[in-house]
Amino acid sequence: MSEEKYLLEVEHLKQYFPIKEGFRTVPLKAVDDISFAIKPGETLGLVGESGCGKTTVGRTLLRLYQPTAGRIVFDGEVLFDSEKKIDVDMHPYRKQMQMVFQDPYSSLDPRMTVEDIIGEPLDVHKLYSSKGERRDKILSLMETVGLNAEHAMRYAHEFSGGQRQRIGIARALAVDPKFIVCDEPVSALDVSIQAQVVNMFEELQEKLGVAYLFIAHDLLVVHHISDRIAVMYLGHMMEIADADDLNNNPIHPYTLSLLSAVPIPDPNIARKSQRIILEGDVPSPLKMPSGCPFRTRCRYATEQCAKEMPPLTDRGNRHFVACWNK
Ligand SMILES: Nc1ncnc2c1ncn2[C@@H]1O[C@H](COP(=O)(O)OP(=O)(O)OP(=O)(O)O)[C@@H](O)[C@H]1O
Ligand code: SF4
Ligand SMILES: [Mg+2]
Repeated sequence: MSEEKYLLEVEHLKQYFPIKEGFRTVPLKAVDDISFAIKPGETLGLVGESGCGKTTVGRTLLRLYQPTAGRIVFDGEVLFDSEKKIDVDMHPYRKQMQMVFQDPYSSLDPRMTVEDIIGEPLDVHKLYSSKGERRDKILSLMETVGLNAEHAMRYAHEFSGGQRQRIGIARALAVDPKFIVCDEPVSALDVSIQAQVVNMFEELQEKLGVAYLFIAHDLLVVHHISDRIAVMYLGHMMEIADADDLNNNPIHPYTLSLLSAVPIPDPNIARKSQRIILEGDVPSPLKMPSGCPFRTRCRYATEQCAKEMPPLTDRGNRHFVACWNK
């Protein structure tokens, strides 16, 4: 990597899950050799179809899964390096790396009060010296995420989806993290309140300087909030670039098809724009095509594509693309 200071550097990360097929165990390659870096206070958007490995990337970074291989450097410390056999105790780092989940209904215990939910990480990491200080911290966190502090004793089930997501964010912020994995945090919410919650993520970032890995299906949502965007397909990184650059000058055939799937509000523009419809299904990650995993659906595929996975190469301006023919 360059001399720029990154908060998080991920190199050649692999996450294989052992799957039983009859008497054999085969690896499901959920994440297969991906690399990226995030600067302090920056947002990397991560997009791709369902099952391409986005959540697995987030969970592996937070070490909810043991990585199969690769290297993870956080804030200058090597947390994991399979070649050098480095695998540090994550406890001191849990405070600095948090996660906000997709579904605010299942990720919060409905029988817990807001005070208990936000207080839990404060308890785990012993972040107060008196009951009064604990309460003050909880109330101030509620205020930070736009919740009425008078509702601290209410139960999670009494809140709407958007408010529950705010509770989830307050819980993640309680430990003052430097990095948050936001795993599709607005996709379970009503469209009408998605923008409000995305704006809140942005405001919190400006105020607190926290970095995000922001996972979403919707390229529009990601474009709005991201500094850079990474596109995944079947466990592989296909393209990664600055958000505007990726949106205005997409290069990879898969990114082009994702962008043409984004609905365009003006029908005249929609008619003029060439829509590239994705044909065929995503192959099973247990029966990965040889070479480029996108080749079974790619109109530009050539013989070489079946032989070898294209490496990510810099096309200028830190715009990386993995494709033999584009
Ligand atoms: N714990 C697990 N054990 C075995 N396989 C898993 C596990 N978690 C995920 N997978 C598989 O790994 C692949 C990637 O899943 P993942 O949940 O990371 O995708 P995703 O991009 O987050 O999808 P979605 O958009 O639907 O949330 C899928 O094939 C999935 O079935
Ligand atoms: S490497 Fe080949 S199959 Fe893969 S995206 Fe490029 S042209 Fe298509
Ligand atoms: Mg997911």
